[in-house]
Parts: sequence; structure tokens; C-alpha cells
Amino acid sequence: MRSIAIMNQKGGVGKTTTAVNLSAALAATGKKVGLIDLDPQAHASLHLGLDVLPDDPSIYNVLTGKTKLSETCKPIAEKLWVAGSSLDLAAAEIELVGVIGREIILRDKLRDEPPEVDYLLIDCPPSLGLLTLNALAAVTEVFIPLQPHFLALHGLSKLLETIDLVAARLNSQLQLSGIILCMYDANTRLAMEVGQDVEDFFQNAKGQAKPWANARMFQTRIRRNIRLAEAPSFGQSIFQYAPDSNGAEDYRKLAEEVIEERGEG
Ligand SMILES: Nc1ncnc2c1ncn2[C@@H]1O[C@H](COP(=O)(O)OP(=O)(O)O)[C@@H](O)[C@H]1O
Ligand SMILES: [Mg+2]
Repeated sequence: MRSIAIMNQKGGVGKTTTAVNLSAALAATGKKVGLIDLDPQAHASLHLGLDVLPDDPSIYNVLTGKTKLSETCKPIAEKLWVAGSSLDLAAAEIELVGVIGREIILRDKLRDEPPEVDYLLIDCPPSLGLLTLNALAAVTEVFIPLQPHFLALHGLSKLLETIDLVAARLNSQLQLSGIILCMYDANTRLAMEVGQDVEDFFQNAKGQAKPWANARMFQTRIRRNIRLAEAPSFGQSIFQYAPDSNGAEDYRKLAEEVIEERGEG
């Protein structure tokens, strides 16, 4: 199983759009996929048409109680389930203060009951708090969606520092494996320049004793596409909502790249 946290402490960069549509694209190739929604805003759950009701078990109950992850997994498509989030999750951070090992609760739950999937994706909230730490402690890979903005690299250093710390203290297997350029405006000079800067940065990091030494920038750029922004309000992935759109094409290609990366075919 590959386990991947989709992370960036900045909001609005394309984490949820990527988590949902990459999950759906991987599932469409026949892989078994699980998506854990770790954001209290529950955007990934809603995007896939899952509305967690107050009495339904959710990731909040998994992190703060005895609920098993499997009790929260809802099938969305033949090969795809989602573990839903709800606004309660915002309180988990405070409720867990004082709990020993609070950063590794999710990891322990996954160890107790390993999900039977080929890919486990986690949609992280836009912060570097306890929920994101739980994701980083539980996975072996991180994907970072970046918007090609002139400050994109600026926020990256804080993010890399967090990954470094988690790798040193909580999870020695953790690696940053991919950068995904999202909301890409092809033909704008800024987008191309930022893409090149990011590529150079990770090229220079090759061979360093850092969790990003093997990071690569995916060649697939996720273009800005209005269909991607419309799909969530219909509770559908891009493949259900607009299968012929550029958005669907880009996420399909990204999934191929993700699969090929490991020679899984
Ligand atoms: N490639 C894209 N083209 C157009 N809109 C996009 C694209 N990717 C994301 N969006 C929209 O931008 C907003 C932020 O994206 P989202 O994935 O929710 O970011 P995050 O999870 O990082 O906060 C959402 O309204 C989403 O629908
Ligand atoms: Mg999000």
C-alpha cells in the first residue's frame, strides 16, 4: 500500500481538489483507494457527496475515541471509499492536548487495522497543527500542491521544516515524493518561472540527507479549469461531473504518472 498525505499549510492551493480527483482517477484505473478527510471543513467528504450527520461516526471519533477507521469508511465508487470529516474535528486539537502520543493516534489506528487498499490518500487541513502531524506520522509519502504564485516557494521552507522534524522525530520513513502544480495558467510567464524555480530547487536537493532528496515535480500540470471548481457543489468528482473536461484529462494523466513512478503499471 502507498500512503500519501496531500499537504500545504496554505489554503486554496488545490489540496482537496487533488485529493478527491486523484483518488477517483486512481480508482478508475482499477486500484483500490481510500481517502481520509482530515480537514474539519469536510470539503473532500462533501465533494464526494458524503454529508456526515451529527450521529455518524467520523474521523473526529477515530482520533478522540474508540471508533475504528473502518466504521467511518463510506463507499463512493466501486474501488473508492472515503472516511468522512465533520466540523467537530476542529475541537480534536484542543481535546487532545495532554494526551500522550496524540500525534500518532491515526498511525496506531492504521496499524491496528490496515486498510485493504492500494492507495491511501489523506486530505490535510490548511495548517501545520495536530491534524496535519497525525497525517504525516501515518504515511510514507507527501505530495504538495503548489499554486504557481510568486510567493509559492516562500511558504515551502516552513513546510519542509515541518516534514524534516516529523521525519526526525516521529516517522523515519516519511518522504516528500511529489510537487503538483495546480491552477496552472499555461503560457503565463510567471507560471513557467515558478515551475522552473521549483524544479531547480528539488534538483539541487538530490542526494542531500533530507526527506525531499527524492522529490520530483510531476510533469502533469493541473490547468485552471472552471469544471474543477464547479464539481464540488454537485457532490461529484470531475470524472462524474465533466469527464471530457481539461480538469478530468489532467487528473487522469497525473494518476498515470503517480502509478508509473513506482513502475506499478
Ligand atoms: N485547477 C483548478 N482550476 C480551477 N479551480 C480550481 C482548480 N483547483 C482548485 N480549484 C478551486 O479553487 C478552490 C481551492 O481549491 P481547494 O482544492 O479547495 O484548495 P485547498 O484544499 O488547498 O484549500 C476551490 O474552490 C476549488 O474548486
Ligand atoms: Mg481543502
